Amino acid sequence: MTRPVPPRVTSLPPWKALVAQCRMIEHRSLRSLFAEEPERGRMMAAEGAGLYLDYSKNLVTGETLRLLLELARECRLSDHIAAMFRGEHINRTENRAVLHVALRMPADRSLVVDGVDVVREVHEVLDRMETFSRKVREGSWKGATGKAVKNVINIGIGGSDLGPVMAYEALRSYSDRSRTFRFVSNIDGTDFVEATRDLDPEETLFIISSKTFTTLETMTNARSAREWLLSRVGSNEAVRHHFVAVSTNADEVRKFGIDTDNMFGFWDWVGGRYSMDSAIGLSTMLAIGPEGFREMLAGFYAMDEHFRTAPFEKNLPVLMGLLVVWYTNFMGSQTIAVLPYDQYLKRFPAYLQQLTMESNGKHVHLDGSPVDTTTGPIYWGEPGTNGQHSFYQLIHQGTRLIPIDFIGFARPRNPLGSHHDILMANLFAQGEALAFGKTAEEVRAAGVPDFQVPHRTFEGNRPSNTILADQLSPRTLGSLVALYEHSVFTQGIIWGIDSFDQWGVELGKVMAVRIIDELSGKKTEAPPHDVSTAELIRRYQAMKEGG
Ligand code: F6P
Repeated sequence: MTRPVPPRVTSLPPWKALVAQCRMIEHRSLRSLFAEEPERGRMMAAEGAGLYLDYSKNLVTGETLRLLLELARECRLSDHIAAMFRGEHINRTENRAVLHVALRMPADRSLVVDGVDVVREVHEVLDRMETFSRKVREGSWKGATGKAVKNVINIGIGGSDLGPVMAYEALRSYSDRSRTFRFVSNIDGTDFVEATRDLDPEETLFIISSKTFTTLETMTNARSAREWLLSRVGSNEAVRHHFVAVSTNADEVRKFGIDTDNMFGFWDWVGGRYSMDSAIGLSTMLAIGPEGFREMLAGFYAMDEHFRTAPFEKNLPVLMGLLVVWYTNFMGSQTIAVLPYDQYLKRFPAYLQQLTMESNGKHVHLDGSPVDTTTGPIYWGEPGTNGQHSFYQLIHQGTRLIPIDFIGFARPRNPLGSHHDILMANLFAQGEALAFGKTAEEVRAAGVPDFQVPHRTFEGNRPSNTILADQLSPRTLGSLVALYEHSVFTQGIIWGIDSFDQWGVELGKVMAVRIIDELSGKKTEAPPHDVSTAELIRRYQAMKEGG
């Protein structure tokens, strides 16, 4: 039986009204909008799960927001949220539930999916992680030669790396400083060699993190890790003391030689990019301790509950997701910049790149028909204030519209003289300068020579959100990540796409495997390549032999 084709989002009345809004908004400025609405800066704000979102500096009127919210309702966003939380198979192309929200449900809740209480299973794994983490942190987990673990190396890639490394960096000030934590992801041997060169294998624990336990990069690095260990610590027996696995694939874990007693599982309903709060976060738990990890889960859960229950007009992820739709589909923006004013969040933009772009970089609807709108924007960013001295010029005076998410905290983790006030003054100044600019008259009045006036004029009208929280803590980080997860969900529902598959990464993987065989001489008959690729491979081999 064929499914009824849902109406295209572009044919919905609020979509058409938003096209008209967009033409109108082009003639408005943030200066005039703020002048007309003296309370705008307070009214266009929402709070949830410990985060304050000021979205008043966006190129929207009350009517724009009303239409965006109507669009969400016409796309049945509430029904889709409920379906996700019920465990329906909303990842249609893989026929899977999408239940990262179950990873942070408290132990006294229950969620039965396909006859199984997934919350109970989640807490069983959490308890095992906790027991293991305590042993390592107390020094009672010993290596093969009886030494305690001093170094932890997570080997994984994509969601099995970016979440753990981002969380470790973000929560470093809460971490056990007596241990070294490193993260190896790249197939480039440099990554492994540099991560291990100063470490004693007798004191090193590897966490092999891979949902599938078949990923080329991770398994190649894991094999190199095993060789590195065995060449220094002797027998195969050492592996069980120095390797643990995080995976859904017990067979492959066993084949690799890791005792499944030392395996921490998760489930096919956790997407890689949504897995940092599953057992994939084992390195995070080792670093910040089980209590800290549970605090982080509480932060995720608080945002989940906010997303599930808050009215859309006060719902942070819904508002942020709809604003992304507004800029992407109506205002012609190609990218979103995420600019955290906190050095500990230096890997946050990289983490968000996978979360947002692997989720919403899609060209067909759920039913396979081509999308008729632009989908996922490009996310990028750097911590402030560093970015101010490199790319902000283009945001202020370039020709592109780049919506920004500023992120800042009231209390620093490392108070140092006036550093924090200076940091936050910069955040506030950037939002203000981008929104309101500086007119030619103002520039002239400041005594600037005529020939410089156009160069020193700022048009303004550059939109931003500001997310403000008390302090960067495990709890705040959980809320922040969940905020973006659910914003991505909201966007995906409006576009009618599957935000939870990632078929686009497959073709390159298959072709790389073929070329690996060709380069290693396993395949005598080279697969046919286009002339450019064939010549590059020929030259590479000639240069390698020549060197
Ligand atoms: O290639 C993309 C991807 O499948 C991501 O979605 C995933 O996070 C990553 O690879 C790693 O996969 P795994 O955890 O199975 O090694």
